Amino acid sequence: MASATFTVQQDTALTNSHIALSVAQTQDLRAQLKTQRGILTTENINQLCAQFSVSDDTLLQGLVPLASEFSVAPVSHFHVGAIVKALDEQGNINFYFGANVEFDHQALSLVVHAEQSAINNAWLNGAKKIVKIAISDAPCGYCRQFMNELADAKEFDILLPENHFKLADLLPHSFGPTDLGNEFSLFNPKPHHKKFANTELDEKLAAIALSAYVPYSKNFSAVKISTFDEGDFYGSYAENAAYSPSLSPLQSALSQLFLAGLSFNGNTVKSITLLETQGHENQAGVARAVLASFDKLPEIEVISAELS
Ligand code: THU
Ligand code: ZN
Repeated sequence: MASATFTVQQDTALTNSHIALSVAQTQDLRAQLKTQRGILTTENINQLCAQFSVSDDTLLQGLVPLASEFSVAPVSHFHVGAIVKALDEQGNINFYFGANVEFDHQALSLVVHAEQSAINNAWLNGAKKIVKIAISDAPCGYCRQFMNELADAKEFDILLPENHFKLADLLPHSFGPTDLGNEFSLFNPKPHHKKFANTELDEKLAAIALSAYVPYSKNFSAVKISTFDEGDFYGSYAENAAYSPSLSPLQSALSQLFLAGLSFNGNTVKSITLLETQGHENQAGVARAVLASFDKLPEIEVISAELS
């Protein structure tokens, strides 16, 4: 069974060709990232840029190794980090961290890649326009495909430790939403006025399910993980035109919990709820498979609700 604890977070200083922090400064930043659930706000970014006399792009690349520390990789022990630089509704820059998540004793294909985790973090937490994605390693084909579903796929820069690219450089002759007749995209979904008929539902869970990007299955769905001491974590369903790099709502919520530096087990988790759209359900199986990788968790509650 997976212990789902972090193996790489140590009392080390973050120093690289971009920035140099002391051990104490690095520890403060680790703590801040956990409390802020893997997000640095404009204010934080400006403050760090002034403190270390660097531009926000230098800071972005310099912080990538910290993102990798949030990786949970019991199978590969290969810790990947990614940070999305994106604009929020007010046009302010925020950094959204991400790291890979593996599930011990389950199909390897259930993995959440660092790029997915960072994009999901941005998507769930108010980002409107992705400007750059800095990654610790070259993005695999699956991630290139996942990124090809984004509204800004043609514009944003992909920063690797030594090079930078546009997605079109890395994914020429691509297959995407328009090949399936879908003019919409992740971060630019089709507007709708749907509501769940059941008014007893957890309001936030229902709202997050309604903001799912589900052009292919129509299963507006979301997951809520409630913890005993650290509040609730939500995840939403993000589909992909090639289907397989889709991110399930449970994986989405779980990667959020790991970005807060929490462990996932019966001591931390009070309840897990999956809300799906009646007639379009497809998430209970994958959710149970992912959960089977962990010890002593509460039973997942699965709700199918009618959309009106
Ligand atoms: N990985 C990523 O997170 N992103 C990539 O694009 C390359 C691979 C992760 C997945 C898995 O947890 C580990 O690295 C080994 O493939
Ligand atoms: Zn990948």
